[in-house]
Amino acid sequence: MKKPLTLQVNGQVHELLVEPSETLNSVLRKRLRLSGTKKGCDTGGCGSCTVLLDGKAVYSCMTYALAIDGGKVTTIEGLAKEGVLDPIQQAFVRNGALQCGFCTPGFVMATKALLDAIPEPTEEEVREALVGNLCRCTGYVKIFEAVREAGRELARGRKRNA
Ligand code: FES
Ligand code: FES
Repeated sequence: MKKPLTLQVNGQVHELLVEPSETLNSVLRKRLRLSGTKKGCDTGGCGSCTVLLDGKAVYSCMTYALAIDGGKVTTIEGLAKEGVLDPIQQAFVRNGALQCGFCTPGFVMATKALLDAIPEPTEEEVREALVGNLCRCTGYVKIFEAVREAGRELARGRKRNA
């Protein structure tokens, strides 16, 4: 039986009726038409479905929507502001850190969670934070470089604004 769900997604409040079996991934992609969040394995093994829930990276395929009633979700669509890509997205583009791109939204969101917690991570911290995200095109080196460059860029911006 469907139950009411309130979610804030990318700053916008949505009130929905959902089945207990519906995942956050399904709500985002099918109900809200936010298809930037991907569905790869659907079993918690690839990270392509990663979004932020209250600032923490989660697998949306493994998160029941009703379990996060009242939560704040950020998806890849929520990063760019007024048509300008987020610095993390810009660093991925600059470094050629994507090939087919299917895994990229998940990597970017996991990176966002990492850099919000650790502004300038070491390579080891980057590898650890992204261990749950798989890229079948094996472009990891460029991804790790992009993450660290984004961290440095964001740190420079914070210093400029301090
Ligand atoms: S689709 Fe969620 S971890 Fe693979
Ligand atoms: S860029 Fe192809 S799976 Fe990651």
